[in-house]
Amino acid sequence: MKKLAILGSTGSIGVSTLDIVAAHPDKFQVVALTGGSNLELLKKQIEEFAPQLVAVMNEELAQKLAQMLPGKGPEIVHGVAGMIAAATAADADMVVAAIVGAAGLVPTAAAIKAGKDIALANKETLVTAGRLIMDMVKIHGVRLYPVDSEHSAVFQSLEGHRKDDVKRIILTASGGPFFSYPAEKMAEVSVSDALNHPNWSMGQKITIDSATMMNKGLEVIEARWLFDIPVERISVTIHPQSIIHSMVEYVDGCVMAQMGIPDMKAPIAYALTYPGRVPTGVKPLDLTALSGLTFFNPDFNRFPALKLAYRALNDGESMPTVMNAANEVAVGAFLNGEITFTAIADSIEKTMGFHQPHNLNSIEEVLSVDRWGRKKCRELLGINNP
Ligand SMILES: NC(=O)c1ccc[n+]([C@@H]2O[C@H](COP(=O)([O-])OP(=O)(O)OC[C@H]3O[C@@H](n4cnc5c(N)ncnc54)[C@H](OP(=O)(O)O)[C@@H]3O)[C@@H](O)[C@H]2O)c1
Repeated sequence: MKKLAILGSTGSIGVSTLDIVAAHPDKFQVVALTGGSNLELLKKQIEEFAPQLVAVMNEELAQKLAQMLPGKGPEIVHGVAGMIAAATAADADMVVAAIVGAAGLVPTAAAIKAGKDIALANKETLVTAGRLIMDMVKIHGVRLYPVDSEHSAVFQSLEGHRKDDVKRIILTASGGPFFSYPAEKMAEVSVSDALNHPNWSMGQKITIDSATMMNKGLEVIEARWLFDIPVERISVTIHPQSIIHSMVEYVDGCVMAQMGIPDMKAPIAYALTYPGRVPTGVKPLDLTALSGLTFFNPDFNRFPALKLAYRALNDGESMPTVMNAANEVAVGAFLNGEITFTAIADSIEKTMGFHQPHNLNSIEEVLSVDRWGRKKCRELLGINNP
């Protein structure tokens, strides 16, 4: 029986994780959950999974949730301290880090320090503080299992092989909804067009990141730290069918790929049960039903966000933190209808232009750089959203 703390249980990854837990009650027990503001869903999850501890975003939400739960419910905590309490819950063997954005960094770091193994969905943790987090993983002797489907595919393609023999990691990307859009139409795309991902059903922020291809950029940075490989040896290939989830090329020319129907339940389950596997309900892959598997080079001109991510990694440790902060602000502004689609990458690039990159020595320093990046991007866009 593995005891889980699920951070971000009301999100897309959180819900899929709980589906797996529900399908295997003999294997998993939920000891802590965290949500943001979706109290209705959190209430249902509490009733079904009976965690001991639950965290929400603020005190007002904590009081509301307590009123919604008659009788003896779980302990309810709130704010960053509450997220940390859930991430370090004494009974938890593993923490599923599935909060969206840089808000996931502090609880995930706290879980690592508390000696918990991590199933990492929150890629922003490694984007904003990659080296520091990987150092902490080593110091505290914990395992960090990727949940991102591409990184799970790389992880699986590395199994049983020698790291020294790896020539290149090839991350696949669907290309998103605007894969074949002409450059001149990109500024006009609507929020609903951008939220209409062809292959994956995900939270809003990552769906917009997929449309700009910043998501692939964040994944390049995530892969750099997770697999300790120089960025020059991480490439991106557009694969619109999303059947091959990523690949590893070896020095002898052999390429290992992991395939399957695009469904996050598969990589989530593998992170929870490694090295074993359990049935997930994911539809079997019928190769004869596929019209074909196609591959293309990414277009860095139509998708400048991907280029910015490579640049940020090369610029120095604090630049990806700034890039990520500006991206979160710009994506929020796009979703609010305050800026155009193409202004997302423009404003990130401008924000990066004002930053002098430097090394990051602590999580506090990362948070300070993150705050600077958000403030600068808001200032450049003339907006006030959080
Ligand atoms: N979805 C996918 O298929 C997928 C695939 C690979 C990687 N990922 C990564 O997994 C993470 C989660 O993605 P998602 O799509 O599941 O996101 P999502 O559906 O938007 O869910 C985000 C979760 O985080 C909570 N949350 C939001 N802001 C918070 C804050 N400031 N403090 C504490 N909790 C907060 C939300 O609570 P409420 O909803 O209750 O407000 C929700 O539980 C992201 O880092 C994403 O890049 C996702």
